[in-house]
Amino acid sequence: MTKATLNYGGVETELDVAIGTEGEKGVDMGKFRARTGMVTLDEGYANTGSCKSAITYLDGERGILRYRGYPIEELAARSRFVEVAYLLTYGELPTPKQLDSFSGLLNSSSLIHEDMRHFFLAFPNYAHPMGLLTTMVASLATFYPVPDEMDEEVEGQVIANLVSQVRTIAAFSYKKFIGEPAVYPSHRLRFVENFLNMMFSSPVSNYQQDPDVVKAIDTFLILHADHEQNCSTSTVRMVGSSLANVYAVISSGIAALWGKRHGGANQEVISMLASILDSGDDGRRFIEEAKNKKVRLMGFGHRVYKTFDPRAMILKSLCHKLLSKPGMGNPMFDIALRLEEAALKDEYFLSRNLYPNVDFYSGLILKAAGIPYDMFTVLFAIGRTPGWLANWREMRHSENSRIARPRQIYVGPALRNYIPLDKRSPSQTNVGNARDQSTSGSGRFSSKRLVPMPPSETNTLGEQGSEFA
Ligand code: ACO
Repeated sequence: MTKATLNYGGVETELDVAIGTEGEKGVDMGKFRARTGMVTLDEGYANTGSCKSAITYLDGERGILRYRGYPIEELAARSRFVEVAYLLTYGELPTPKQLDSFSGLLNSSSLIHEDMRHFFLAFPNYAHPMGLLTTMVASLATFYPVPDEMDEEVEGQVIANLVSQVRTIAAFSYKKFIGEPAVYPSHRLRFVENFLNMMFSSPVSNYQQDPDVVKAIDTFLILHADHEQNCSTSTVRMVGSSLANVYAVISSGIAALWGKRHGGANQEVISMLASILDSGDDGRRFIEEAKNKKVRLMGFGHRVYKTFDPRAMILKSLCHKLLSKPGMGNPMFDIALRLEEAALKDEYFLSRNLYPNVDFYSGLILKAAGIPYDMFTVLFAIGRTPGWLANWREMRHSENSRIARPRQIYVGPALRNYIPLDKRSPSQTNVGNARDQSTSGSGRFSSKRLVPMPPSETNTLGEQGSEFA
């Protein structure tokens, strides 16, 4: 059936139904308002398809994730991140020649303009690296102007700049915070090795690459490379739809990713596991608190996956492998396993379809690989950049591309008379309430800290792993 009928007030409206490759159906609401005067209301967009896309397929009920038709399990086991970045962007796995030339382009695009390094000096040393990444990626626009008309070659260069330079900026940010000189990217190293070298080698010591760590980070990046129309990718499409500069577009995706309901969750999981460990709880008390809505079990639940998240399964087995290496064990892993086991037997979590998501085990892997806590979400951003760019590119080449402009249902005051300034009383304004709210924040980056913080209070990057050691 390719039509749906909506009956409102006895009037029937027939609507087209779009059918996807895997048989998924979407009622096309494109002409709905023109024909009925109504809009659809779907807060949080849980039922809204915002585009047709040929990049990623996921079925949350069956725990399926595929990039361009290839199962994530196979890509994680057999591909490298750079290959997957090519696949997402251009739609096919590269031939050896295409892969060579793409890798070469990434390598030759990996340096950032030397003048940009001055920017790093101006940031306070307690700034969160996601704040730096957002700002620095947006400022690439001023160093690498993008012409209005982009041919294939320019577009390819812009994509290579972003995939490669996000990684360079990430590593430079870390070096700035620990007060070491930046280590430049090297043409001799592959993508992940290059990143680890920029992060961890210094003029006085060479970083020893561990193939298991390289594989773990590469797999982490593959698993995070795209995920359909999630919050940050939708943001990228939303901002990109105005034909904004592509560097600003990717920066907006990074900003959206930062939130702890999204990419920020991998940090929150480690923080949660560390506090459970410190409190001597075996996880049971925390589960009860989560059920009583006092806390959220971070790394659990997903808007789309309702049986299991295939990425979490892959990361769990990677976690087993990495954390069983000498010197890499971590008691937080045992807590995570116990939490998962308890939650998966509990009626509260089962009835709400809450299962471990990709972030539940990813933080443990990053921690074992020596990635500092505040860099976790940055790693996610490096991984997701090809997915954002693939979506941006798809939208750019789509014939139906329009500016994104949702509607709303207005629920504010009806028409009322203007009140002159001298006749207004506090009860007629919300100013007092707004002020109350602005001082009630909590957490490390709360609104209580609207003034600069003393560096010693917050800089966790320099003490690699010590905050939650
Ligand atoms: N712990 C405890 N209860 C939860 C959790 C959780 N992690 N997640 C959802 N619930 C409960 C809610 O309280 C709600 O209960 P109710 O029906 O009694 O009111 C019900 O489950 C539905 O929750 P929603 O928040 O409506 O689900 P939504 O689909 O909007 O949110 C989200 C999904 C944001 C991922 C949520 O599950 C969550 O906050 N999880 C923890 C954060 C996290 O791990 N985020 C990473 C997501 S993956 C990613 O971005 C890469």
